[in-house]
Amino acid sequence: MTPLIINIGARHPPSHILPINIYRSRGYLTITCQTGTMTGELIFITGATGFIGSATALAALKAGYRLRVCVRKPSEKLQTLLLQYSQQVEYVTVPDLTEEAAFHGKLDGVDYVLHLASPLPRGTDKKDYFIPAVKGTTTLLKEADRVASIKKVVITSSMAALIPITGLPKGGVLKGRPF
Ligand SMILES: NC(=O)c1ccc[n+]([C@@H]2O[C@H](COP(=O)([O-])OP(=O)(O)OC[C@H]3O[C@@H](n4cnc5c(N)ncnc54)[C@H](OP(=O)(O)O)[C@@H]3O)[C@@H](O)[C@H]2O)c1
Repeated sequence: MTPLIINIGARHPPSHILPINIYRSRGYLTITCQTGTMTGELIFITGATGFIGSATALAALKAGYRLRVCVRKPSEKLQTLLLQYSQQVEYVTVPDLTEEAAFHGKLDGVDYVLHLASPLPRGTDKKDYFIPAVKGTTTLLKEADRVASIKKVVITSSMAALIPITGLPKGGVLKGRPF
């Protein structure tokens, strides 16, 4: 199982790598889902209480996928949002995704993993977002590697990952090739 990383800042849709694609088009964040043969497959999704996660969860449900929604704590707002698809949705609670056994057994039977949960930087204290972002991702990937039914894993990153924590360098130009 090869982890797949999609950059939301990308200006074009990724080329059919997944039934769900997240990309930027004409300044808008676009989430597309294939329907048809994929109907009924099970997606494990984190971050569904967030901006991108909630739109992605809805798009996947509309396309006919089943969702196992992983939340830190039960969210009435999210449950209301997904109410009309409640037969396709199950919830699991993982209070701390940095714990080594956080996802143990939670991915069983899953076809796709969408890991969209990550703290957005709201300060300059690295540990507030680096630890959950990195540890949460590696813990999830280790568990996904154990589960044979998983075909793809999507992890959101950001153009912000390329920008130094202290801000843009003098002149505002970032050098180097991100991918
Ligand atoms: N928004 C954009 O335009 C944009 C652009 C490029 C990349 N991205 C990336 O896409 C991802 C999601 O962004 P978003 O805009 O949807 O963010 P968001 O609205 O702030 O949502 C963040 C999600 O991550 C969860 N989360 C935050 N901190 C967490 C932690 N320590 N442990 C577990 N879950 C945590 C939140 O859960 P709770 O509800 O429990 O807090 C929420 O579901 C991020 O990786 C971001 O960098 C976003």
